Amino acid sequence: MNWRLFLMLPILFLANPGLAQNLEKGKEINSVCAGCHGELGQGGSRGEYPRIGGQRAAYIVDQLKSFRARKRINIPMYPYTQERELPDEDIKDVAAYLGSIELPTKWPVFKESDDALTRLTLTERVMIIPRVTGNLANGEAIYQKQCVTCHSKNGMGRGMFPMLVGQYTSYLMRQMEKYLKGERPHDDVEVGGVLNALKAEDLQDILAYLTSIQE
Ligand code: HEC
Ligand code: HEC
Repeated sequence: MNWRLFLMLPILFLANPGLAQNLEKGKEINSVCAGCHGELGQGGSRGEYPRIGGQRAAYIVDQLKSFRARKRINIPMYPYTQERELPDEDIKDVAAYLGSIELPTKWPVFKESDDALTRLTLTERVMIIPRVTGNLANGEAIYQKQCVTCHSKNGMGRGMFPMLVGQYTSYLMRQMEKYLKGERPHDDVEVGGVLNALKAEDLQDILAYLTSIQE
C-alpha cells in the first residue's frame, strides 16, 4: 500500500461514521458521565464509581446495553441509560472514546521546560491502585489458572472480557459479591460460575495479586 494512503487511513476512518466510531461525539457524551466517573473515566470515591477510562470498549458497550435493559441493576445510572438518552450509536461512540483513554501507572518524569499546567495535566492522568494485603502466591496461582483464559495474563482483559488490573479493589470485591448472590451473571455456569468454588480468602488474595501486577 502507498504509505501516504496508509498514514491517511485513520483520518478517513474517523471522518466516516459508517466505518468507525466517532470519538469526538464520544467525548461529548462523556461529559455527562464525567459527573460520576470523572473526565478521564478514572472513577472515584474509592471505587463507588468504577474506572471506565481504558476499559475494553466491547465490554463497555455490553454493560451499557445491560444497564439500559435493566438486566444489570444500576439505579444511579437509570436516567442516563434509557433508550432515548443512550441509543446504540451513542453507546458505541462513548465506549470507543473511553476505551481509547490511556491512564499511566507511573509518575511522569518532567522536563525542565514543562510549565505548571503541563505538569498538572500529566500527573492528573496517573492512576495507581493502592496495594492490598493478601497471599500473593495463592492469588497468582488461582488467577493464572482459573481467570487467565478470559481476563488475560496481565489482567487487561480481552475481547469483551473486562480489564481487572487498574480497577478499584473495593469495586471488584463488590462485583464478586454480586456474582455470588446471582445479581450479575459472571461466566454463565450457575450462579457466580468459576467464582463459586473459591473461598473468601481466595478472592482477597486474587485482588491483592491484581494490585501487584500493574504495569
Ligand atoms: C450518577 C452517577 C453516574 C453517572 C452520571 C454515570 N454512571 Fe456509570 N456507574 C455509576 C455507578 C455507581 C456504577 C457502579 C455500579 C455497580 O457498583 O454495580 C457505574 C458503572 C458503570 C459501568 C460498569 C463498569 C464495569 O466495570 O462494569 C460502566 C461501563 C459505566 N458506568 C459507564 C457510564 C457511562 C458511559 C456514563 C455516561 C453515559 C455513565 N456511566 C454515567 C454511576 C454513574
Ligand atoms: C469464561 C470466562 C471467564 C473466566 C474464566 C473468568 N471471568 Fe470474570 N468475567 C467474565 C465476564 C464475561 C465478565 C462480565 C460479566 C458481566 O456481564 O457481568 C467478568 C467480570 C468479572 C468481574 C467484574 C468486572 C467489572 O468491571 O465489573 C470480576 C471482578 C471478575 N470477572 C473476576 C474474575 C475472577 C477473579 C476470575 C477467576 C477466578 C474470573 N473472573 C474468571 C468472564 C470470565
